[in-house]
Amino acid sequence: MTDRLLELFEQAEGAFISGEDISSKLQISRTAVWKQVERLREQGYLFEAVSRKGYRLLAKPEKLDIARLLAGLQTERFGKTVKYYDQVDSTQTIAHALVQEGAAEGTLVIAEQQTAGRGRMGRKWHSPKGKGLWMSLILKPNLPLQLTPQLTLLFAVALCRTIRNVCSVEAGIKWPNDLLIHGRKISGILLESSAEDERLQHVVAGVGISVNLEKEDYPSELLSIATSLAIEAGHPIDRVELLCRFLLELEQLYGLYQEKGFGAIKLLWELLTVSLNRPIRCQTAQGVVEGISESIDDSGALMVRLPDGTLHRLYSGDVEF
Ligand code: BTN
Repeated sequence: MTDRLLELFEQAEGAFISGEDISSKLQISRTAVWKQVERLREQGYLFEAVSRKGYRLLAKPEKLDIARLLAGLQTERFGKTVKYYDQVDSTQTIAHALVQEGAAEGTLVIAEQQTAGRGRMGRKWHSPKGKGLWMSLILKPNLPLQLTPQLTLLFAVALCRTIRNVCSVEAGIKWPNDLLIHGRKISGILLESSAEDERLQHVVAGVGISVNLEKEDYPSELLSIATSLAIEAGHPIDRVELLCRFLLELEQLYGLYQEKGFGAIKLLWELLTVSLNRPIRCQTAQGVVEGISESIDDSGALMVRLPDGTLHRLYSGDVEF
């Protein structure tokens, strides 16, 4: 049904079509017309609705230009194989399946829309069509398992540097790996891994970047805590350019990390974070931790000075300022 409706809008070439016209041409009720228009809106189509005139199509969802992506990539391995989908439940699920089939390190899974995007701590990740970069990268780092958090921080550093350079916005890292602008989240990172003999076999690194979402694209419960690059920069962002630059930055930092270890990544993380040297509060499984965040250690844990002067190591949790 949505296909036939889209056909009508294509034929109208941007002119209004009345609800009555649509309903008689498609042989459906006016309520059904409204429902179909809403369904298309959820898929990223933009309509103007004016009473007594009807609807007109203003914009279609943008598609990632994969040919331009492959031509623009300056990496050696990351993103050289791209699996691109219109809609998936989660790019993480697809990437895990590809690992089982022997996919090479650097294989990238990317989708225009996720219907069951996953976040940390069992949360959902809002991934509307054509508006963001919803992707999973396959890595085979062969590192000791306990070093996984270092990789997460590395991803946050690469993403933060890319966003600052490409979009000229003041992005900062909230421990451990959320990216915020003006206190609102624009990106999340989720590393899922498998290990054997205490060594990492593969990592599926999920990255969600809210690129061109507008306020209307957020459900009300996210509006006060989330934002997008386009909202913050004041103009739409070229997703292909952002992705090319991110993959290059990531590959370079990953190379540096494998060659020289965590030292340089830690320094960069400390330069880009908004989480240090301030009073924080964190709900953990053992209870609430409150104190001043002082540093991160080599395992990526946050070192918090408690009111009694002792240092407490936070390994995970949601920090509030
Ligand atoms: C978080 O901050 O909670 C992590 C969010 C990670 C979201 C990305 S979007 C692409 C990939 N696929 C998923 O289902 N999740 C990650």
